[in-house]
Amino acid sequence: MPSTSQAAGSSKSAKKSPPRKAAKAKAQDDALTLLMNDHREVEGWFAAFDKARSDDRKRELAAQICTALRVHTQIEEEIFYPAYLDATGDEDMNDEAIVEHDGARKLIDEIENGGPGADKWEAKVHVLSEMIKHHVHEEEKRDGMFARARKADLDLKALGEDLAERKRALMDKRSA
Ligand SMILES: [Fe+2]
Ligand SMILES: [Fe+2]
Repeated sequence: MPSTSQAAGSSKSAKKSPPRKAAKAKAQDDALTLLMNDHREVEGWFAAFDKARSDDRKRELAAQICTALRVHTQIEEEIFYPAYLDATGDEDMNDEAIVEHDGARKLIDEIENGGPGADKWEAKVHVLSEMIKHHVHEEEKRDGMFARARKADLDLKALGEDLAERKRALMDKRSA
């Protein structure tokens, strides 16, 4: 799946731009679309990992998956979940999601510290994939967190802008 990162710096007019970072001329995805695009992207990389033959390709895909999941879970926890909790008071769903993120991050640490050939490394990537599948289902299922967010009094457009901006900053920091 193609990367969803926006082509920054493509503002087309000389119009004074606000102090926020570039690429605001383009319609911004709302929060749920942005988060679901992240989910699809990572699912694509897990599927590619399953088919990969060479250790280099596996290492590359695992690194992409781990980076994307670190950034995704961080922007959810910093921006989306608090807004969700605030709007819905739904502590159970919020807490469960955070505990699932914590579990995934433990595995991500181990995957990042290992590599092809390391003890149970590929099994760890597969288990991470299963954990994420479950977690994404909890977020996207009927009456899951995203469905409830859609019904709640949330400005999903503004949240989408905040998520996109934070995501860009975190990705920049990682590739610096
Ligand atoms: Fe998510
Ligand atoms: Fe999540």
